Amino acid sequence: MTHRPTRWELAGEGNRGYGAKFAQLVAEGSDVDGEARLADVLVPRGARVLDVGSGMGRVSAALQARGHRVVAVEPDATLVEQSRRTYPDLEVIHADILEADLTGLRASVDLAVLVGNVMVFVAAGTEREVLRRVRATLAPGGRVLVGFHPVDGPTTARDYSPDEFAGDATAAGLRVDHLFGSYELHPASPDYAVWVLSRDDAPGAPTSFGHAL
Ligand SMILES: C[S@@+](CC[C@H](N)C(=O)[O-])C[C@H]1O[C@@H](n2cnc3c(N)ncnc32)[C@H](O)[C@@H]1O
Repeated sequence: MTHRPTRWELAGEGNRGYGAKFAQLVAEGSDVDGEARLADVLVPRGARVLDVGSGMGRVSAALQARGHRVVAVEPDATLVEQSRRTYPDLEVIHADILEADLTGLRASVDLAVLVGNVMVFVAAGTEREVLRRVRATLAPGGRVLVGFHPVDGPTTARDYSPDEFAGDATAAGLRVDHLFGSYELHPASPDYAVWVLSRDDAPGAPTSFGHAL
């Protein structure tokens, strides 16, 4: 398979501030678990969680500390090294989600997380493919937590409107159940989008896909 460079990878040193920022926050003992707290309430205890674009590992580590079985996937070698140094007990698969061997995870994941702007950093034109790969890992009843800046995010990221993302999620076999404005479940807002998706064959109906943007 031809490697398609992610927007994160193309930015090169332009993205190094992320790792340095979280290294400092962890060293200061600051709270870096916000996304993980929301993820934790979406699953039963001891759930299987797939963290796509796990970065320096903070979300995976926080979920592992809460007793979940976490698979972390991250293609950036510098971040994988930082993650292994910061959280030695967390196993990280060093790969792009489009290239990682996910056969062992097929239809087994209770929750996939793509938080902290992962979806606006994937390689151009691969958004649906990424979501389809994630969909294939989901157990019946499995869900996906996604969070990104739809506009005015990091300079090297793309803009991604809620309507376009919802269309891509639907095309990938996912259903939009909720759209919030933060990981603390504020109402939908143009500044940040937090999505809860499920398999399109899941029972129930979407409840709060806000169209107020
Ligand atoms: C801003 S960082 C967020 C990291 C982490 N999720 C967090 O919130 O701390 C975005 C991450 O997405 C990763 N990423 C981008 N495209 C990816 C892909 N196709 N597969 C896996 N990770 C990807 C990047 O390598 C980068 O580590």
